[in-house]
Order: sequence, then C-alpha cells, then structure tokens
Amino acid sequence: MQRFVDKVVIVTGAGSGIGRATAIRFLNEGAKVTLVGRTKSKLDEVAKPYPADQVLIVEADVSKEFDIDDVVAKSVESFGRLDTLVNNAGVVAEGDVESLSTEDWRKVMATDLDGVFFASRAAIPHLKTSGGSIVNVSSVSGTGGDWGMAAYNAAKGGVTNLTRSMAMDHGKDGVRVNAVCPSFTVTGMTDDMVEDAKLVAKFNERFALEGPGKPEDVAAVIAFLASDDARFVTGVNLPVDGGMSASNGQPPQ
Ligand SMILES: NC(=O)c1ccc[n+]([C@@H]2O[C@H](COP(=O)([O-])OP(=O)(O)OC[C@H]3O[C@@H](n4cnc5c(N)ncnc54)[C@H](O)[C@@H]3O)[C@@H](O)[C@H]2O)c1
Repeated sequence: MQRFVDKVVIVTGAGSGIGRATAIRFLNEGAKVTLVGRTKSKLDEVAKPYPADQVLIVEADVSKEFDIDDVVAKSVESFGRLDTLVNNAGVVAEGDVESLSTEDWRKVMATDLDGVFFASRAAIPHLKTSGGSIVNVSSVSGTGGDWGMAAYNAAKGGVTNLTRSMAMDHGKDGVRVNAVCPSFTVTGMTDDMVEDAKLVAKFNERFALEGPGKPEDVAAVIAFLASDDARFVTGVNLPVDGGMSASNGQPPQ
C-alpha cells in the first residue's frame, strides 16, 4: 500500500518501539516523515534505509513547549505541509499515590500529557490547512485503572479525553483526532515484563488473542486512523489490545 505519497507525518518518540515501527510504516507507504526524539543516533538508525529527502530528524524533548514548536516549524519549513501528527513519546513510572515522588509524577505528566498538548497546539493550524489528523498513543491504562501506576493512569486518562475534546473542537475545521490504546506490547518500555514468563502467562489469561502485541500491530492501526479510509472516524480511542478490553473483568474459569 502507498496511502501516504505526498503526505507529511511527524512522529514523536520515533527512535524505538511503537514510534519507530510507526515511522517505518509511514515511510514504507510513501510519506515524508519527521522523526522526533532526544537521541539522534537512534533516529539516524531509523532514517538510514530511506532517501535523505524523505526523512527529517529533529532532536527534541516533547515536554518542552519551545522544542516542540521548533519541531513543527522545521518540519513545515522542510516539507511545505503537515498531514499527520503522531503523539507517541511516553514514559511510565511505577507507584501509587502514597509512594510516587513529585518528580516522577511531574515527569510522566510532562511527557505523556503536556507533550500531547504542546505538539497538538503547534500542529493544528497546519492540519487545518491540509485537512489532516492527529493520532495519539494512549493506552488501555488511559481507559481504566492499573495497580501501582497512578501517574501513568492519570496522564493517559488525560490523553484519552483530550483526544475526544480535540476531535469535537476541530472536526468542523476538517481536522480528525483519534487515539490508539495498546495493551502490553513488546518494546523497550516492557523489557522486564517480556522476560518474566509468569507475568506473560498472566497477561495471556486476559488477552482473547495470544499476546503480547508487537509494535507493528499498533503502527498498522495508527496508519489506518491517519489514512483516508478513516475519513469519517474521529474522537475514538481504539483498543489495540488483543481483545483484553472485551472482558468485563471477571477472571477466566
Ligand atoms: N509498550 C507497551 O506495552 C505500551 C502499552 C500502551 C501504551 N504504550 C505507549 O506507547 C508509546 C510508545 O512507547 P513504547 O512502548 O514504544 O516504548 P519506548 O520506550 O520504546 O518508546 C518511547 C519513546 O519515547 C521517547 N521519549 C520519552 N520521553 C520523551 C521526551 N520527553 N521527548 C521525546 N521523546 C521521548 C523515548 O526515548 C522512546 O524512544 C508511549 O506513549 C507508551 O506509553 C506502550
């Protein structure tokens, strides 16, 4: 498929995991892609197989609004337009409200929620011009609670509802806003989980399909939401969770 020829996409957190797979998916479908992250060497690695005029690398921290304004400005300056923003960069910190440090709380909120706000604010004027869209990477942790992930649940819950409010505010401007909500996906963020066979088995009791998911599984759904195939879809938080959210929460018997 070549759904994104002549389209321009920004992917944050593009150096690894879901962001990397998403950038590759768009590049392979013909898009020009701006790769955003804090570590240039990881972004260079993603860009390497592609022609230089198809990829732009911008080092930036999504939690810093001026960094992100700069990303959008440089991308539009290089490629002349913007069609899709993928707000993917994210971090997690463990802990309940009693045990979380203020520093961890702020880091998760600044990256996972402020970052989405800053990038969306900078991108929307250009998306209005192109009739483009935003795809946020929320989480199943943004649609319900986990044990011991209070900051992440709060931040991703914010992303889930910000997705809905941006969809309502900007739909009549021709801008669609959707999110994917992955469950356990094999990336750097879940390295320790993947190695824990008992934990993987516990997750597989809750997945309808065999899990965990792969970054490419999430990237494919992000690309669908960004494509014209989803032209009448906005404000959805689409689970990419192997059927986990199909359950009412009762344990298997
Ligand atoms: N892996 C999972 O099981 C899972 C499940 C649900 C949601 N998610 C979400 O998917 C997204 C991608 O995570 P991943 O699983 O691919 O993990 P990952 O750690 O491989 O990717 C996260 C990327 O974001 C970048 N990043 C972090 N803070 C940043 C900042 N301040 N500025 C710029 N870049 C920053 C990291 O360097 C990294 O490249 C995150 O938003 C995460 O919350 C992951």
